Amino acid sequence: MRRRRNQMDTNKLSKFYKKTHAEKISALKEAGVISLEEATVLTEDGLDLDPSVGEHMIENYIGNYSLPLGISTNFVIDDNEVLVPMAIEEPSVIAAASFAAKIIGSAGGFTTAVSDRLMIGQVTLKNVKDMEQAAQNIKAAEHNILERANEAHPSIVKRGGGAKALETRILEADPEENIPAFLVVHLHIDTQEAMGANIVNTMMEGIAPYIEELTGGKALLRILSNYATECLATATCTIPAHKLKTGDYTGEAVRDRIIEASQVALADPYRAVTHNKGIMNGVDAVVVASGNDWRAIEAGVHAYAARSGQYRALSKWQKNDQGDLVGTLTLPLAIGTVGGSISIHPGAKLAHKLMMYPDAKRLESILVSVGLAQNFGAVRALVTDGIQKGHMGLHARSLAISAGAKGEHVELIAEQLKKAPHMNLQTAKELLNNL
Ligand code: MEV
Repeated sequence: MRRRRNQMDTNKLSKFYKKTHAEKISALKEAGVISLEEATVLTEDGLDLDPSVGEHMIENYIGNYSLPLGISTNFVIDDNEVLVPMAIEEPSVIAAASFAAKIIGSAGGFTTAVSDRLMIGQVTLKNVKDMEQAAQNIKAAEHNILERANEAHPSIVKRGGGAKALETRILEADPEENIPAFLVVHLHIDTQEAMGANIVNTMMEGIAPYIEELTGGKALLRILSNYATECLATATCTIPAHKLKTGDYTGEAVRDRIIEASQVALADPYRAVTHNKGIMNGVDAVVVASGNDWRAIEAGVHAYAARSGQYRALSKWQKNDQGDLVGTLTLPLAIGTVGGSISIHPGAKLAHKLMMYPDAKRLESILVSVGLAQNFGAVRALVTDGIQKGHMGLHARSLAISAGAKGEHVELIAEQLKKAPHMNLQTAKELLNNL
């Protein structure tokens, strides 16, 4: 298989997790991933926002709140190797993603498919007397409405995007809940490389008076919908059963247990929420690192999980005719590669560079693949050793750091803690005192 390496010398990054912080940064530099200047920024912990920028980003700014930024390795997505930056406070997530990506990468990696990127804007109308007639009027004026929407934001049209299609939805009255009927007009808008909230909202506010004229109703809401069903990305991976063997479990047994766990998560909302949380561990970490709006992604993804009327697992694991394990994940991913904090935040700028400046579709491919990897890593661990084995090692390190251990003492205390009868902060402090 031909694998494009994007001018990055990944050999320099082998055993990345074993390197010290300084070694990791020089390895990134030697691999051609970051510049000398960026290496200095990372060495001097200079990724934080400058206060002069921070105070213009939010109101009542008082300082920065950092998250650790790490890199998940081993990802091969559509035949391209990619380093995945992740901003996350939870231990194990990056290790699990890298481990899962290694197994999946050795079996050909992830294949992705990304739909057209259309954002949805809504004008919601109240007091519409004749819903059917109003909906017909809207449909008849579709061309004019799209034209007015595009006039409200001409620059996105110049960049090749703009309002592309229109749809109406009648929300029937619900007398039991005392909810009247509403008419909703949707525009499908191509926002190109932007997530596009401002573009969409400007257009919806721009067309609302005309929509009122056409329907005789009153516009109540004029805003984008974060339920981005017109902006979907799918990742699949195929893993031969023999690659799943671990401990006393045969590869076939692990495969079948993963399939059963997937079935449980499709059937049981209590399990589905945790299963999907595992997927979002990875997705959110990349969304945050890339400077995108993780609340928007979270909201859309969970609505998508409930699209059948029941909250279900977002991913599915099955067996193909060859007996391989096949995983699929589809997510609505309204992200962008320009706008918002992306070109302002030094961490976000570096994250885009680490991923070799993906366009928005490629970023969606990366996100959905990370979600599938994260899910595979979690479920594989759950149906075999359980996740505590891996977690406790990292927990031991956190306890050692909380107790005051520094440098090589962290690992030393963590090792002793793992063998101690009680793994807690008190024991960590005692062990540190004894050193
Ligand atoms: C923990 O952050 C995520 C998991 O609970 C996900 C899962 O149960 O699938 C391990």
